[in-house]
Amino acid sequence: MQGRLEGKVAIITGAARGIGEGHADLFAAEGARVVVADVLEELGEAVAARLREEGRQAIYQNLDVTSPRAWTDTVAAAVQHFGKLTTLMNNAAIFNASGLETTTLDDWNKLLAVNLTGQFLGMKICMPELLKTGNAAIVNICSLYGLIGTPSFTSYHASKGGVRMLSKSVAMEYVKRGVRVNSVFPGDTGTPAMENLTEEENAKVLALVPMGVAGKPLDMAFGSLYLASDEARYLTGSEIVIDGGWSVP
Ligand SMILES: NC(=O)c1ccc[n+]([C@@H]2O[C@H](COP(=O)([O-])OP(=O)(O)OC[C@H]3O[C@@H](n4cnc5c(N)ncnc54)[C@H](O)[C@@H]3O)[C@@H](O)[C@H]2O)c1
Repeated sequence: MQGRLEGKVAIITGAARGIGEGHADLFAAEGARVVVADVLEELGEAVAARLREEGRQAIYQNLDVTSPRAWTDTVAAAVQHFGKLTTLMNNAAIFNASGLETTTLDDWNKLLAVNLTGQFLGMKICMPELLKTGNAAIVNICSLYGLIGTPSFTSYHASKGGVRMLSKSVAMEYVKRGVRVNSVFPGDTGTPAMENLTEEENAKVLALVPMGVAGKPLDMAFGSLYLASDEARYLTGSEIVIDGGWSVP
């Protein structure tokens, strides 16, 4: 099946690389017009240019998700180029592997600002345009680490736990107003963010994954594709965990 997002206009944050880039590829291939939004200008421009070369419709927009002003500009760019906004993919995030003892207040504030406040601002500032369409979808990228605890990643776990409930709360607020809000929970996924893991650290992670391999960005994007499409019209506040079985045992 193709064209599952025909007529949709999507802002995808953190789309210059990794899971966000996978979403930009798949959403554009399924007919969406895509705003590749990121702080990595060169990479983001390159993703949008590649999509256009492939015959898709895409623009790059510089967006720091912690900046309300940048969000307003991004929504304006989507509407100016593509006439409307139907879809928000809140994907951008940063990582910090520190536990409680070594997480500084600065680290904590910085990570929460991107991972949690960034998604809050995205939903808040995109909402007026999303409401206009009468049939809009928000997909928030959460994490397996929003479901389970580990002895490290303190601020990251907290941010993703926050994203989980933020999504459900906004889903209920807009349940009768034509905006669905769902979330996707990736497990271990091969992206640039994971490249600094040593072989030993990587092997430790994979030992926890029943399938024994890392997922790929497209594995995550296929979950979001369903949630963003009209096929999921009866779904809101729901969660799709895509983790090779990590959360099952
Ligand atoms: N890779 C994994 O194993 C994994 C597992 C669970 C959840 N996730 C989630 O998937 C999403 C994508 O992760 P990834 O692995 O592709 O990471 P990544 O670091 O490879 O990509 C993240 C992108 O977000 C962008 N970004 C960072 N801060 C930003 C900001 N302030 N404003 C705008 N863009 C910003 C980065 O520039 C980058 O392009 C994140 O929400 C992450 O928490 C990833």
